[in-house]
Amino acid sequence: MKGGYDHFMQKEIHEQPESLLQTMRGRVQFQRPAVGNPYLTPRVKLGGLVEHGATVRRCRRIMLVACGTSFHACLAARKTLEEMCEVPVMLELASDFLDRRCPIFRDDTCVFLSQSGETADTLRSLEYAKAHGALCLGITNTVGSAISRMTHCGVHLNAGYEIGVASTKAYTSQILAVTMMALQLAEDSISKRDRRDSIIDELGQLPGKVRSTLMLDGAMKELAEELRNAHSLLFFGRGYNYATALEAALKAGYWGLHGACGAGLRPRCSLPTIKEVALIHSEGILAGEMKHGPLALVDEHLPIVVIATRDGMYKKMESVIQQLLARNAQLYIVCNENDEGMKQYESRGCKLIQASGKSLS
Ligand code: UD1
Ligand code: BG6
Ligand code: NA
Repeated sequence: MKGGYDHFMQKEIHEQPESLLQTMRGRVQFQRPAVGNPYLTPRVKLGGLVEHGATVRRCRRIMLVACGTSFHACLAARKTLEEMCEVPVMLELASDFLDRRCPIFRDDTCVFLSQSGETADTLRSLEYAKAHGALCLGITNTVGSAISRMTHCGVHLNAGYEIGVASTKAYTSQILAVTMMALQLAEDSISKRDRRDSIIDELGQLPGKVRSTLMLDGAMKELAEELRNAHSLLFFGRGYNYATALEAALKAGYWGLHGACGAGLRPRCSLPTIKEVALIHSEGILAGEMKHGPLALVDEHLPIVVIATRDGMYKKMESVIQQLLARNAQLYIVCNENDEGMKQYESRGCKLIQASGKSLS
């Protein structure tokens, strides 16, 4: 069942090249336009959105509602959705959405993300939004689940069963599904065409890039050994990678909580994402907020992972690194493969974790 892996979480992390491909299968057309043949333009077609797409495009705002890792996927994909649709996108943790009795209007679109399709707070948020007349979409990995059935329409992730308690492959498929939804909603926009085409091009390369990043497994095992005795661990990111910082911190802390609970999921240090460092208190921090509190915590004893990939936030993350180094922080920098700009920090004691591929700007 676990096909040579020690536990399902590890297996499912390694399934990502395939699960991402499955999320796109039959839905993404990658071809570049051939001269005189308009049918060959790159495009996305999610069957579940065809009927209600026009309503979504006209809505007052899009609200993404979820719990846990699914919420982090909303955070990661929000920028692309806003950019493509030019509609305000609000993010809601399902429990807080319900606690506040958040005002909902008939011209809102509410999107409920859930791997299982059964999470209680997300389901109750759906009932609430539906009762208030919003258009309700589901993005779930489970056909026939309560959220899939109760939403007006939606998208199945098709990522395959996720057995590990901590969500992994569903997370990347959720980000992908929201991105695909954004591309489809913007398909009539001429001004977005170049950007849309280039994102679709990148999607075609995604499974391969994930596959090469997963080859860092061995190096990550060493790193995890090094970090496993830390009392606390911080993850800094901004832009798209704020979500990465939160998700990495959640997994590091989560494992302390759930690792001992059995179910074949034992703490172990062998993952490509520093995810199984047992019993470590960890926080994901929006690097833009660094000066407003977190910097005071920093000293030479606190290991910090800084995500500084080549995207629109690169320069700002470089300044974050410099400020952290001024406080003698122990830094682990996640950057693009062979990033010349980041190499200089190795001589200042930083460790580089080099991920494969180009970043979305
Ligand atoms: C569908 C079929 C797929 C088939 C394809 C061929 C299903 C489950 N999917 O995939 O087997 O190969 O057509 O064209 O039979 N939905 C919700 N809420 C959700 C998720 C989905 O209401 O949370 C609805 C959608 O709006 C849609 C239906 O469920 O009406 C199926 O969704 P999805 O599987 O994503 O659609 P296709 O990819 O078109
Ligand atoms: C639980 C899981 O807390 O529920 C998490 O352990 C998951 O991994 C969260 O992110 C939400 O679950 P779902 O199924 O709604 O995505
Ligand atoms: Na439905």
